[in-house]
Amino acid sequence: MTAQDLPPAQIAGGGIDDVTGLGGERDDLIKRGTVDGATAASRAGSVMVFFFLIPTTVLNLACSPTSGPWAHCGKLIAFDANGLIGRGRSGNRYPTRYAGRLVGAAGELMAQFYVMHGRASSLVIEQADGAAPLWRYWGPRLAEGAVPEAALADTRPLPTFALDKDVALSVFPLIGEGWFAQSALLAHRAQADWAQAVTQSEVVVTAQTIRIRLADEVSELSVDIQLALDPETDVLTTSTKLTNTGAGAMDVQWLAAASLPLPPDTRRIHFYNGRHQAEFGPQVQELTRSLWRRENRRGLTSHDAPPTGFAETADGHVYAAHLAWSGNSVQQAEWLDDGRYLWQFGEWLAPGEVQLRPGETIETPELLATFSPGGRNGAMQNFHAAIRKRMSWPGGGMRPRPVQINTWEGFYFNHDTAGMKALADEAAAIGIERFVLDDGWFEGRKDDKAALGDWTPDRTKYPDGLGPLAAHVTGLGMEFGLWVEPEMINPDSSLARAHPDWILTGEGRPRLTGRNQMVLNLNAPGVTDYLYGVLSDLLRSLPISYLKWDHNREIVAGGPRAVYRRQVKATYGLMARLRADFPNVEIEACAAGGGRIDAGILQYTHRFWTSDSLDAVQRIAMQREFLRVFPPEVMGSHIGTAPAHSTRRRQSLDFRAGVALAGHFGVELDPMKLDAKDKGRLAEWIGTHKALRDRLHSGRVWLGEAGDGAVWQAHGEARDLILLLYRVEPTAQRHMPLVRLPMLEDGAYTVTRIDQTRTNHIAPFIEAMPAGVEVSGAWLKQSGLTMPTIAAETLAIFRLVTK
Ligand code: GLA
Repeated sequence: MTAQDLPPAQIAGGGIDDVTGLGGERDDLIKRGTVDGATAASRAGSVMVFFFLIPTTVLNLACSPTSGPWAHCGKLIAFDANGLIGRGRSGNRYPTRYAGRLVGAAGELMAQFYVMHGRASSLVIEQADGAAPLWRYWGPRLAEGAVPEAALADTRPLPTFALDKDVALSVFPLIGEGWFAQSALLAHRAQADWAQAVTQSEVVVTAQTIRIRLADEVSELSVDIQLALDPETDVLTTSTKLTNTGAGAMDVQWLAAASLPLPPDTRRIHFYNGRHQAEFGPQVQELTRSLWRRENRRGLTSHDAPPTGFAETADGHVYAAHLAWSGNSVQQAEWLDDGRYLWQFGEWLAPGEVQLRPGETIETPELLATFSPGGRNGAMQNFHAAIRKRMSWPGGGMRPRPVQINTWEGFYFNHDTAGMKALADEAAAIGIERFVLDDGWFEGRKDDKAALGDWTPDRTKYPDGLGPLAAHVTGLGMEFGLWVEPEMINPDSSLARAHPDWILTGEGRPRLTGRNQMVLNLNAPGVTDYLYGVLSDLLRSLPISYLKWDHNREIVAGGPRAVYRRQVKATYGLMARLRADFPNVEIEACAAGGGRIDAGILQYTHRFWTSDSLDAVQRIAMQREFLRVFPPEVMGSHIGTAPAHSTRRRQSLDFRAGVALAGHFGVELDPMKLDAKDKGRLAEWIGTHKALRDRLHSGRVWLGEAGDGAVWQAHGEARDLILLLYRVEPTAQRHMPLVRLPMLEDGAYTVTRIDQTRTNHIAPFIEAMPAGVEVSGAWLKQSGLTMPTIAAETLAIFRLVTK
């Protein structure tokens, strides 16, 4: 058979015009691939490197390398294992090295892939000569050995009116490479070197980690990217380092922590909006053929735009990502020409904020990203598992979360030794394990107008300092915790009078206070040493085992040069120093409630204050969204007053307690003001929490809609679960829908109702539940559990254990 006998080209896409005869040299130019099977050249942990010799499709190019680095290729013919599948004449021009890479010495087609597998996900990148590796895949787990059919450039024809070289999504797409979507880097060196392109690329594989080292010898920079897919959790941890290898300073405007691919069937992104006392308001955006972008410029993680997104595909798969960073951030998703989306996260950098001098490096925060075929519950469980592995607990492991009392909403600024000792007595009597003295304890702090920065006990409230109270608390068997807000300063404070130069403010600009306070410039000489000094004095002189570390305002542009990221780094540094010197002290991250909830600060802390709203109705929704990234044991959840101070809504003690139950449980009211019945119930709830907390704070969490306006969540494992059912609105149905529990096993379960919610509608099965009823798991899984008819603003709690 000669080429002239062949049928017209059927190669998908463009680039092949028609069929013509081949010249006499054709037989020299057409070679057939002869190698079959894939060869795994190396294998380390879950990372597989394939040097793949493609047997199926062989593209041979007849090129005349006459025009510099480019060759004109007149003929293009493709074979597969069964013979020729098409032929044609290409009007396109191909670089000679393309042809050289395409066909090996034996005529075989070559490409190199790096594959990483998790439990349920895999990723594949393709080595590209002297260029950043290409994203070939991130999605459901591939079978061992599954790799792309060929190099990307060999599988997709060039479109019309396009560059003569295929430019595909790489792990570090750059503006200077003919990449027209978002660049991973925006930088320049005095207006020059702004259009960077990779000229050198090296991939180093270690167990579970791919390290990619890129260089642009023209713009004189190097980039190090790390991709680590944890095979246990399916969480990909990735970050990027940029080094200025040139002689002049380089201004950096944007450096993506990661540039990830989302598949073409991605439909929408779930993200958050919010405000003080209304954190984690769920938002959803349908993706279109455009750029979707979310920015946070408030200087800390923010109530408004925490750096988290969940991308959902048409078939319910979820890609989720969270930037482990407590400062400004950007998240964006842009449609690409091949139908995929580029999903990038990174820091939002202010003009001039980052300038790298020769030899200097900037490292992005880590991005935690995961794919789950199990939808949002699956992604949440992956995050929980990964975040638990990253936690750094005193003693090396989490101990049961102590039930806390916090003085804030019960007392605000009105406290003194006698009152707090009395509170401690009450707290200990109802089973509380940690006493946290909130704002109001330090010199001159009678309201929120003064004294931040003056971290010595107020002598009018505590004439002998905090020692007597702390001793009283610990003498009762409780831990003693203290509120601080180290990064802040009131203009009306001794510290501000002594060091006006420590205050972060724009030069020549008016001071913009927030809650009457300013931010300390942590990078001004002496500031972090001062803070370390006052905090370590407190930790040394008092039996403090817990700091509630607050940050009650946003950061307004300040200083001659933007300091946002340096401020975050300085806070991390201060926390790290304190943790190193006081390893047994736990820290709670708070920022007017949930303004600094992220996996960056969680490297140094052990709990988040979720929100300053303790309204239980509002809390149900907020806490469910909190849980989508963070595990319940780090979710501060307190029983507040009725009415709630934030909303003035009134809810029963049982409902408030039941809503707080699943998190790191606490009490934030004055129990001395409760009537005997409520005080008794409060003690019972504390007992219930202690009995359940091991199960609530281990295993997995599932969130579900129960129908008829009710929601449920389950904590634990398939064989032993706590199920919480919350109803906010009155039922609109005569019968409550059954609650399907798809995570259960098929065998028999004992279902025991734990709560004491009263109901007027009773059936024998419901009546029997508190003593335990036996039900088939297969039935509960497919049909569902019969729920009691509960009223608005009540809940029901069950334990399900296999027999
Ligand atoms: C913030 C916190 C509260 C409380 C106050 C004290 O608002 O979120 O829990 O600590 O500060 O001023």
